Amino acid sequence: MEQSILELKSVSKDFGDGNSTIRVLKKINLTVNKGEFIAIVGPSGSGKSTLLSIIGALLTPTVGEITIDQQIVHQQYNKKLNQIRAKKIGFIFQSPNLIPYLDVYSQLRIVAHIAKIDNRQGERRAQELLKRLDLSHRMRNYPNELSGGEKQRVAIARAFMSDPSVILADEPTASLDSVRGRNVVEMISQEVKSSNKAAIMVTHDERMLDLCDRVYNMEDGLLSQK
Ligand SMILES: Nc1ncnc2c1ncn2[C@@H]1O[C@H](COP(=O)(O)OP(=O)(O)OP(=O)(O)O)[C@@H](O)[C@H]1O
Ligand SMILES: [Mg+2]
Repeated sequence: MEQSILELKSVSKDFGDGNSTIRVLKKINLTVNKGEFIAIVGPSGSGKSTLLSIIGALLTPTVGEITIDQQIVHQQYNKKLNQIRAKKIGFIFQSPNLIPYLDVYSQLRIVAHIAKIDNRQGERRAQELLKRLDLSHRMRNYPNELSGGEKQRVAIARAFMSDPSVILADEPTASLDSVRGRNVVEMISQEVKSSNKAAIMVTHDERMLDLCDRVYNMEDGLLSQK
């Protein structure tokens, strides 16, 4: 019985300009199973966002292998990579990055469109997520009519819209006060548990760590469990 969704095997990443290179990630091994919510903490510049970008197929590793649902991600062609990103991965960033000219409902429907989910199913899923995230009464509002917490909840709904296997959150609470921040992390946790997904959150906020199953520390490109 296979329970792991995400596996990283000896992943390293170098950045360089030809003259000099720096190794930003050093032989990272990580397995995340269904229903697990993982946190990564660590100092600025230690490689946390680079790691999330590699897992999310936005960057390719210099060495090593990443598998999502038993599929080796970075060996796929570009077109396939776009599909993997659209269907298998949900991103939540520090700022919600909503599209200013779309109302809340349309922000979600556009994701369904990109992930090639059929209309009926997309409608149903958008409505269900808005209900779960307590946003139904806001579905026809535009981003500039929403509070910070509401916008971030829309960003969470958007990340879950394509029913991805893996959720990647890079400091999702940084722009929120502590109560709203905790709400947002609780919602991610509930979604992970109820839909059996895998999630990785980078955070500077120690107060959120009790909501996570395991906590890792990133230090100078090395990942270790706390
Ligand atoms: N595209 C790039 N080209 C060259 N160097 C890069 C690139 N992206 C990141 N780096 C470097 O890699 C290192 C890790 O950066 P990263 O953004 O992963 O850190 P981080 O842990 O997310 O930091 P923070 O907590 O400040 O967000 C830094 O030294 C950064 O300058
Ligand atoms: Mg970062």
